[in-house]
Amino acid sequence: MPKKIVVAYSGGLDTSVMVKWLNNKFDAEIITATGNLGQRAELEGLEEKALKTGAVKSVIKDLRYEFVTEYLWKALKAGALYEGEYPMATAIGRPLLAKMLVDIANDEGADFVAHGCTGKGNDQVRFEVGVQTLAPHLGIIAPLREWEFKSREDEIDYAIENNIPIKISKKNPYSIDENLWGIAIECGVLEDPTVAPPADAYQITTDPKYAPEQSEQLTITFEAGIPVALNNTITDPIQIVEELNKIGGKHGIGRLDLIENRVVGIKSREVYEAPAATILHKAHHEIEKLVIDKETFRFKQGVSDKIANLIYDGLWFTPLFKALMAFVDSTQQNVTGEVVIELYKGNLSIVSRNSIYSLYSKELATYTDEDKFDHKASEGFMKIYGLPYKTMTQIYSQTDVKETA
Ligand code: ARG
Repeated sequence: MPKKIVVAYSGGLDTSVMVKWLNNKFDAEIITATGNLGQRAELEGLEEKALKTGAVKSVIKDLRYEFVTEYLWKALKAGALYEGEYPMATAIGRPLLAKMLVDIANDEGADFVAHGCTGKGNDQVRFEVGVQTLAPHLGIIAPLREWEFKSREDEIDYAIENNIPIKISKKNPYSIDENLWGIAIECGVLEDPTVAPPADAYQITTDPKYAPEQSEQLTITFEAGIPVALNNTITDPIQIVEELNKIGGKHGIGRLDLIENRVVGIKSREVYEAPAATILHKAHHEIEKLVIDKETFRFKQGVSDKIANLIYDGLWFTPLFKALMAFVDSTQQNVTGEVVIELYKGNLSIVSRNSIYSLYSKELATYTDEDKFDHKASEGFMKIYGLPYKTMTQIYSQTDVKETA
């Protein structure tokens, strides 16, 4: 039986009911743990609320700096976009929250942790694989997988019976998860993939149709793969992301409406808004194209996809993630330079890119009389390069063998 449980706590209905439910079921001491990853939800009053709900202690940690520099920047350098598109705000946040639970459990001498994830999502995987890896001795409880409540109304009844302070607001039809890297919106009408997301599904971006008529240009500076300045003025990592969310959101940048493959095998539909992540991935990739040699660049595309899968699948704290990140880091040494990007009604375009490590050679690329490329050399190259196929066609034409291509 658990004696002391650290509960991942947001102060919403599920996690509030969870605190009391665990308390009633196990007669254990409950410590709530809340991480600030830049979600806009109110953190003020959370401690009081947790204590009123039955926790003996509430811990709130500002993890924003660590989140940006140790988690988001890694995903950015890796070019990690799940299934080619989703920048993974939620998926990148979970390992850090798992680490926070473990740290607090160790500090407080707790023997269990608990989280409010359901039994069919990805987040249970990310939390539990993270916790098991970092602290195999800790037990894990997932009340939502086992408790008796069938609906939100059941939970509200329980909250009222047990004097749990909850704000019974108008039911938000969506399930929303948010942090600095973006926001994920699902449930309600979004469960029908044939229906377009209603305007009220979007939380932080302007509909591109109503975005400003005037475009806006931004300058983003990178050093060794990491954004170090926005418009040559903002240099604080948290502020860079916040400001890009604000400006990008205003121009309707970073909306996504995706069908995705969950870890547990379900296909789900989710809507995302990630202005900063969208802008930074685009700008970062642009510098990479300028400074990374062809074979490394091509190889990295596969690594990016693999790393995205590892992050999505909850495998952040694993040897393969670490090893692939070592590869990524070695590709980033020259990813230094400046990108000017223009935002206009939901679109991003590159205005200019520049790097002291640029491999672009104008005298090789030009079609003018400055051209230094050896056109003659191409002739021999093609003879050898095309030889296997030329030979194949010649041989096939002399035999009965059917063409394969
Ligand atoms: N599908 C996303 C992921 O697994 C987000 C999950 C949380 N979404 C939510 N709306 N609560 O990373």
